[in-house]
Amino acid sequence: MSQAVMSVRAVAAAVVALVALIGAPATPATAATEGFRDVTGRHQFYREISWLTERGITTGYADNSFRPSGEVSREAFAAFLYRLAGRPGVSVPSRSPFKDVSTNAQFYREIVWLEKQHITTGWADGTFRPKDAISRSAMAAFLYRYKGSPSYTPPSTSRFTDTRTSSTFYTEVSWLASTGMTTGYADGTFRPYDGTSRAATAAFLFRGFGNASYHAPTYAPPTTWHTDRDYTRIINDPESVLVVVNKRRALDPLRYAPADLVTLSGISGGSTRYMRREAATAMSRMHAAVRAKGMTFSIVSAYRSHDYQRALFARYARQHGVASAETFSARAGHSEHQTGWTADLGAGTCSLGGCFGSSTVGRWVAAHSHEYGFIIRYPQGAQAITGYIYEPWHVRYVGVELATYMHDHDIDTLEEQFGLPAAPDYR
Ligand code: DAL
Ligand code: ZN
Repeated sequence: MSQAVMSVRAVAAAVVALVALIGAPATPATAATEGFRDVTGRHQFYREISWLTERGITTGYADNSFRPSGEVSREAFAAFLYRLAGRPGVSVPSRSPFKDVSTNAQFYREIVWLEKQHITTGWADGTFRPKDAISRSAMAAFLYRYKGSPSYTPPSTSRFTDTRTSSTFYTEVSWLASTGMTTGYADGTFRPYDGTSRAATAAFLFRGFGNASYHAPTYAPPTTWHTDRDYTRIINDPESVLVVVNKRRALDPLRYAPADLVTLSGISGGSTRYMRREAATAMSRMHAAVRAKGMTFSIVSAYRSHDYQRALFARYARQHGVASAETFSARAGHSEHQTGWTADLGAGTCSLGGCFGSSTVGRWVAAHSHEYGFIIRYPQGAQAITGYIYEPWHVRYVGVELATYMHDHDIDTLEEQFGLPAAPDYR
């Protein structure tokens, strides 16, 4: 790509930096044979995502998720196009065409193929930047070249309010729209420098390469907990719904922040508190079920950033002494609250106390929260394993399959579930 492209990208550096916060996607596991738990039959792109998966262009993750709002990296898109092309034979050079792609990189073959097809030339500085999120306009350019750079004259007036006729990828973006692969957004924008979500990528590719008569299978929710799978990687992945965080298992990166936080509006205390989207949806369902029984709970705390957690722990340490604070508050980088999968619930005036466990709603939560995908993460009598006193108010979202499995098998802690060492302290 030219210098001009680079300067445009430099302008978009803030966007890229934001995307970098999300981190590289985990390596997909084997193809899913059942529906994804985060793409139900009602998802806007359910059909497109089903097609993409059936074609083997991408797979889900080991935790039965597809992560539709996850960003696609440049190397992942190289792999998508390579698979779309039918995985052609590639003679793989012993010297990499890009200085930041080693010959033993996971997607070396795919990136070499992309370069040989002239779909990418990389950057003027000799890099490919494989882990960067691919912008929507760069994806337009890759697709245009993948189709053999067809001759095409773009309209003299842009159809998108945020894409000028002088934009670097004006031709490619206009071409993409002319093929019907993108329609842009309802507000008339294309958002050329946004990252491209996995769901949007599925839609682009399906419209460009799918069969219009394709019928997606009826959605079947994943119901089985796979006891035979190796979950090592997935419990280390901060993005995963199954990530296990405790005193011996820091988040990696330590300052991890989720990208899809939404408020818990509709629940008392929730309008200024956040969880990851999937957990927030489950929380509102659980709240509705509680309301239907004539009870309620409030949100006392939910997502906490690394810095907030650090200040909170310091405050507790000042108030109660470090040794006492360690029994109920995590150090920054070690709190489940930083994952966005956790909330502390309140009942009336009972906030962060044993009283929650004996309250009517607290007893309901203990008995039913698994139906909504939550576990009581710090159960009674498990301090030697979890490192924390009984916290009946602290619920952790792990998804309905695992929460139900643990409930039905009387498994109290994530440490026991995954055969992890006890984490009574930081060592
Ligand atoms: N209260 C839990 C242990 C936390 O601080 O994450
Ligand atoms: Zn908590």
